Amino acid sequence: MNKFLIKGGKPLKGTVTVSGAKNAVLPIIAASLMTADPVILEEAPDLIDVSVMTEVIESLGARVTRHGSQLHIQARVLESIEAPHDLVTQMRASIVIMGALLARQGRVRISHPGGCAIGSRPINWHLKGLEALGAEVRMDHGFLDVKAQALKGARIYLDFPSVGATENIMMAAALAEGTTVIENAAQEPEIVDLANFINEMGGKVRGAGTSVIHLEGVQELHGTTHTVIPDRIEAGSFLLIAAAAGGDVLVQNVISDHLKPLLAKMVEAGIRVVEEGDGIHISGDGLYQGVDVKTQVHPGFSTDLQAPFLGMLSRAQGASMVTETIFENRFMHVDELKRMGADIKIEGRTAIIKGVPSLTAAPVTATDLRAGAALILAALTADGTSEISGIHHIDRGYERIEEKLRGLGAEIRRV
Ligand code: UD1
Repeated sequence: MNKFLIKGGKPLKGTVTVSGAKNAVLPIIAASLMTADPVILEEAPDLIDVSVMTEVIESLGARVTRHGSQLHIQARVLESIEAPHDLVTQMRASIVIMGALLARQGRVRISHPGGCAIGSRPINWHLKGLEALGAEVRMDHGFLDVKAQALKGARIYLDFPSVGATENIMMAAALAEGTTVIENAAQEPEIVDLANFINEMGGKVRGAGTSVIHLEGVQELHGTTHTVIPDRIEAGSFLLIAAAAGGDVLVQNVISDHLKPLLAKMVEAGIRVVEEGDGIHISGDGLYQGVDVKTQVHPGFSTDLQAPFLGMLSRAQGASMVTETIFENRFMHVDELKRMGADIKIEGRTAIIKGVPSLTAAPVTATDLRAGAALILAALTADGTSEISGIHHIDRGYERIEEKLRGLGAEIRRV
């Protein structure tokens, strides 16, 4: 098992470039199944989750090759409608192939993804949406068997603006007969990127990025070349790491509009944030004021940045409160931060943080992807050398993270 050894206490300096967005490219890879033509994805990050998703579509008959940061995909003929159990259990996000396969083949079999480290994560709204479009859902020996003779457009109100449910419904509706309206849709930038991709393939999607998305079904979609948006969570993580470690860092390839709530909270904490072209410049001494944060759906404060933000607050002056409203169990990093000397108490869905002057190095474990980012941040600010295990979680979503951090002068080694 790989580990990171990180020697903390050194300010960071330099420029780091953000990769393409993991959460945008995953549904877009799935959506590539909806055309028999070749698709080229530019700025596709080289991550474990992306490899798992490409393996899923290859197992269905698609051909995928990587050329640097480009993925070339062609699903000329699909040979299977069943996503392999071991791949789906490795990555929950593979559930977004449901909408695409249903649209292209009229049927999909996929093992029920179950829960994960951050909560039980049901998929009831995905299924409800697909049923509204005419699909029939059956549970069969742990597999979901979803079939549709013909998908028909419908008006669908989501009880909650679920990202994955919105994506699955968009894909199924893109090739359905007639008009679909998704109300209370997720508004995340990754939804807009998927809508753009579907439109580039000849689909008709309007309103993505707002709470009401209209889709006019088309007979078929064609190939395209699409550039994936920059990863706002990777960008936010680097901004927080740079701020917490102190120093002077330019994070480039950022769409600052995607990060508004984070940037506002960073400024409130007293961090110097300056927008420069397609980058954001962070400078400071690593010592800031405590602030309160509540995670919300976009355009609120992202749950994916909660863990690194909380890591940054561990050393802020005064008390802070962080409330998690999206996932039920997303404070696994707190116990690990406490091992490094942080003073944090959990009450229900809220973490109460009393800033401490310094953290101390310790052996800690990343329990999920973003918890991993919080621990890297903490280790870079702590006295001494920390050992982070469970780093396969980090590799799922941060491309070449140690190389990027070393470029900023961090002392980080993979052993
Ligand atoms: C996506 C992101 C993840 C991010 C999350 C929220 C990807 C690959 N992952 O996950 O990084 O943290 O959005 O911004 O894009 N829920 C239900 N029933 C459903 C669907 C969801 O109860 O049918 C619940 C979930 O358990 C969770 C909440 O709704 O508590 C939000 O989930 P959702 O927006 O669907 O997140 P994901 O698409 O899984």
